[in-house]
Amino acid sequence: MPVNCPHGSASDGDAHGSGRGTQLRGITRRAVTALGSLGLLGLFLNSCSDEDGQDPAAGDDDTAGDDDTTGDDDSASSTGPEDCDETQSNPEGPFYAGNSPVRNHLNLYGDTGTELLVTGRILDADCAPLPLAVLEIWHADPAGEYDNSSPEMRYRAQMAADANGNYGFQTLVPGAYLDGSQYRPAHIHAKLWVGGVERLTTQLYFRDDPYNSIDGAVSDALMLDYSIDGSGAWNAGFDFVLPQANG
Ligand SMILES: [Fe+2]
Repeated sequence: MPVNCPHGSASDGDAHGSGRGTQLRGITRRAVTALGSLGLLGLFLNSCSDEDGQDPAAGDDDTAGDDDTTGDDDSASSTGPEDCDETQSNPEGPFYAGNSPVRNHLNLYGDTGTELLVTGRILDADCAPLPLAVLEIWHADPAGEYDNSSPEMRYRAQMAADANGNYGFQTLVPGAYLDGSQYRPAHIHAKLWVGGVERLTTQLYFRDDPYNSIDGAVSDALMLDYSIDGSGAWNAGFDFVLPQANG
């Protein structure tokens, strides 16, 4: 189940950090610029701003961002399905831990890698935004290693969509890793929650990864198309379309 800031917050690294300025520590200037241009900076500014221990999926509007700071939902250049086909599920894999820290930026550890910014929307099957939906992600570090034991829970996060269903996160491109006798391509695992109920488990892949063709779980419908900016950072968009809730 999603929880609220069990292992830290966007202001980690500053024991006295209570102001929003300190919450930007883990975000690079380039990401701030990119997010600002997408109208998504408010998502980061509000990440884990609640300190009342409430579940971000439980309906606290404060966790969903601020209308005034997140802009309109046309600003996110997502490449998700235009016809609102439900996002395909994909295997959870063995490394899900749950209780991920609430944050939008995961590039916090000084690892060498390629910066990645992913933005998009969380929608229901009727294409309506789900403003209180929670996206939980986990992925390998650039060297292809999962953090399965440290209290930092590296490269694991959960975040609430803003009032328009927008989400965004900044991280490093995951590395491929050996799974048995062959490599899995770079991928990001994702779970989507609405009202504390899990609605989807899937994985996102990267176009042109050399290992895509040998991995049985890879699907074209789960592919992140990305552009590379002048600094080499990858910018990708993906809209999640959740299946209808059971019952
Ligand atoms: Fe994985």
